[in-house]
Amino acid sequence: MRSIVFDEETIARRVAELGREITSAYPDGELLVLGLLKGSVIFLSDLVRKIERPLQLDFLVASSYGSGTVSSGTVRLLYDPGTQLAGKHILLVEDIIDSGRTLVRLVELLRQRDPRSLAICALLDKHVAPHPPAELRFVGFDAPPAFLVGYGLDHAESFRHLPFIGDLESQE
Ligand code: IMP
Ligand code: MG
Repeated sequence: MRSIVFDEETIARRVAELGREITSAYPDGELLVLGLLKGSVIFLSDLVRKIERPLQLDFLVASSYGSGTVSSGTVRLLYDPGTQLAGKHILLVEDIIDSGRTLVRLVELLRQRDPRSLAICALLDKHVAPHPPAELRFVGFDAPPAFLVGYGLDHAESFRHLPFIGDLESQE
């Protein structure tokens, strides 16, 4: 069984707040929102509709976990955004920060494309990363040290469609 950690209403409220924060954080320049597939996709689609300024959307595909619940630390880039990054504000959108390894690696790669700025927006942060990326600027919620599913987060590709975020292993 799963218990609900963040319900639909709580998520919607926080996503709207993040949208307002992001809107006011970027007064000028081109903004490219880069979603890290697949985990960010539900969050991203809600978030961009709360950002009230022009923006472009693209995606990155990286692979790190396989079907386990523990980070392997291996990050592979499977899809590279086709959109030009140079000179733009890049906002990388991620579902959850665990070890932080995925993002640290991606940030290195994206820096080489000469963006005007580079920031990360994560829905959840487990606060266990020994060296969280300095670019982490917008966080939705502090996450408990559990394996969470729903609202884009998966376990072995299941549960992404749940409208809430739940604890996979809690017994209820
Ligand atoms: P990191 O590189 O260790 O920070 O791992 C980040 C990625 O691992 C996230 O983008 C998720 O895809 C996955 N992940 C980490 N923790 C969880 C969790 O609690 N539930 C589901 N996926 C998770
Ligand atoms: Mg995942």
